[in-house]
Amino acid sequence: MGGPFDDLTETVFADKTVLTESYQPETILERDEEIEAYSHALQDVLFGRTPENIFVYGKAGLGKTAVTKYMLEELREEVPTRESADNLHTHTANCNGRTLFMVVRNLVNRLLPDHASPFPERGLGTGDAFDELYRQFDRIGGTHLVVFDEIDHLEDANTLLYELPRARANGHITDAKVGVIGISNDYTFRQTLSPKVKDTLMETEISFSPYDAAELRTILDHRADHAFVDGVCDTSAIAKAAALAAQDMGNARQALDLLRVGAELAEQNGETPVTDAHIETARERVQRGRVTNKIRDQTEHAQYILEAIANLQTSGEVPARSKEIQRTYEQVADSHAASPLSTLKSIQDHLSDLHMLGFLRRHEQNKGLSGGQYYEYELDLDPALVLETRTEIAKHTE
Ligand SMILES: Nc1ncnc2c1ncn2[C@@H]1O[C@H](COP(=O)(O)OP(=O)(O)OP(=O)(O)O)[C@@H](O)[C@H]1O
Ligand SMILES: [Mg+2]
Repeated sequence: MGGPFDDLTETVFADKTVLTESYQPETILERDEEIEAYSHALQDVLFGRTPENIFVYGKAGLGKTAVTKYMLEELREEVPTRESADNLHTHTANCNGRTLFMVVRNLVNRLLPDHASPFPERGLGTGDAFDELYRQFDRIGGTHLVVFDEIDHLEDANTLLYELPRARANGHITDAKVGVIGISNDYTFRQTLSPKVKDTLMETEISFSPYDAAELRTILDHRADHAFVDGVCDTSAIAKAAALAAQDMGNARQALDLLRVGAELAEQNGETPVTDAHIETARERVQRGRVTNKIRDQTEHAQYILEAIANLQTSGEVPARSKEIQRTYEQVADSHAASPLSTLKSIQDHLSDLHMLGFLRRHEQNKGLSGGQYYEYELDLDPALVLETRTEIAKHTE
């Protein structure tokens, strides 16, 4: 008699990890210009000079993190072959969901000698953490490149980006050389930086532009070679995933997601090869996943506002003015046992943020002298999806 797993054999994936987010590609394709710009920006390290500060920007999924990792690896290999280069130390901090203090403390802890006790979580401030960081840089010596990925998420980016690049000029470090690499997918982030910070960090800017369908296809073809059992994926399915992602934002992560999810669908249904139709179906799933994540990233009250508009939309009461939205929002907050934000202004600020982030569509109403001018809002996505996601989140938090 057979067991429940007897029928399961690997029919689609030869190595599925190749299609997942955590996989770091050995070769970077279609980014020659960016790699060249990056090489120039990093060349000072090879000649024992203080590194330039670099700002890398471009929309989501364009290879900023992958190319940066690749460049640092290549640089670490190159440095020992160069006589004039100092020892190189590279550090990467992801700023998403962290405070400046956490980011700096984390760096310090990675630099401290093995036997030292970690930098305390409480009792000392960010200034103390910076002091310790400088001490560690000098103790270790050499050149330090520090990458701050997703730096737009950091509330106090100005302080960080003001402090670090000037540490040597200001006499905080004497032996070590430090270069900062900031990565952001939010170009408006630049506008939030002080002019002084812009001057230093923007020494070298490297911008990543969206991939076109042919470029995405090259990237996918290469991965598919390693990911799939031979002949199990139609070349037209790969072309389809590339074309869909190119039409959207030219995002390589999305293209890879489409291919992986499409292949999963084929596997689940016992249908090989993977075809265009699987990719089409995957598209909806991937899109849903993305919207859900985006909603999850919003603050509690922004989510209540989305939930309120979804309710209004379901009962056909959109587009709605901020006052009406506020009324429904108060009921929603109430139902989650939260005290609602009290001013109309705070609701309007949230509405304008949510509009900017692409959640809402906004209509300007101009009623002349009598009625004045105001905005009306509705969701720019499926209200059912918002409500489902909210139910899901509430289940886990309340
Ligand atoms: N040129 C490329 N060659 C091979 N793989 C790539 C390339 N560009 C992107 N990828 C892959 O696409 C996915 C997304 O890339 P990456 O994480 O570097 O994007 P990002 O620009 O850092 O996006 P975000 O702003 O969202 O952090 C990763 O799995 C990465 O390995
Ligand atoms: Mg990234």
